[in-house]
Amino acid sequence: MARKKLIAGNWKMNCLQEEGLSLAKAVAAKVKAQKWDCDFLICPPFTLLTSIKKCLRGTKIALGAQDVHFAEKGAHTGDISPLMLKDAGCTYTLIGHSERRVDHFESNDLICKKAIAAHNAGLNTVICIGETGAERDAGKTIKVCQEEINGSVPDDATAKNTVIAYEPIWAIGTGKTPTAADVQEVHAAIRKALSKKLGKAVANKMRILYGGSVKPANAKELLSLPDVDGALIGGASLKAEDFIAIAVNATK
Ligand code: 13P
Repeated sequence: MARKKLIAGNWKMNCLQEEGLSLAKAVAAKVKAQKWDCDFLICPPFTLLTSIKKCLRGTKIALGAQDVHFAEKGAHTGDISPLMLKDAGCTYTLIGHSERRVDHFESNDLICKKAIAAHNAGLNTVICIGETGAERDAGKTIKVCQEEINGSVPDDATAKNTVIAYEPIWAIGTGKTPTAADVQEVHAAIRKALSKKLGKAVANKMRILYGGSVKPANAKELLSLPDVDGALIGGASLKAEDFIAIAVNATK
């Protein structure tokens, strides 16, 4: 099953206007300069969305947010609705990143509600899952991922509107990664869980990204694994040359 790879940058809470714009411009120029057979996505902070949308015009880079609220509008101070993201030029949003699950106590139920609202508004979602170091040490990695798939992914998710990102929490920003064999084992288990929930046809088409200390040096090995359909990149997405050096490994 050929799945087009997706190279996604999660900028997290980084970059003011000037720095963000020059990073987006540098990425856009590098993406424009070459023919790619992968898809690109960048997810800057909310404050940069509208200005960055302008520099992505004419490129194949999609714009995404890092979170969304499930309500259409109303009394939710500090939150952003799916339609507001669309209005700002987004076609994607991340949902359920472990930093939100931990910092904002987001549950699988809430993440699922957000995904449904985003899909109803016509946004695509990247739903993030992954185990803690303690869960890994206790041999619970696959069980945790299955539970997060079952609880966070809407029953009617499609391969078009949903991407899964497997991000072992202990690998985020630490320079540590699971072995290639471990990544493949977990991705295959995630696809099996998706197949049980959404049917084999959808599961076979749905992209599963790996995230957690992806760098130019390990991208080739990770992106060549059969069930790895791209990468969700944190730190290395803040340098245009590293982001592109990772993407080079996603093309045939
Ligand atoms: P790092 O690439 O910095 O480890 O971050 C991964 C991540 O959390 C992307 O969402």
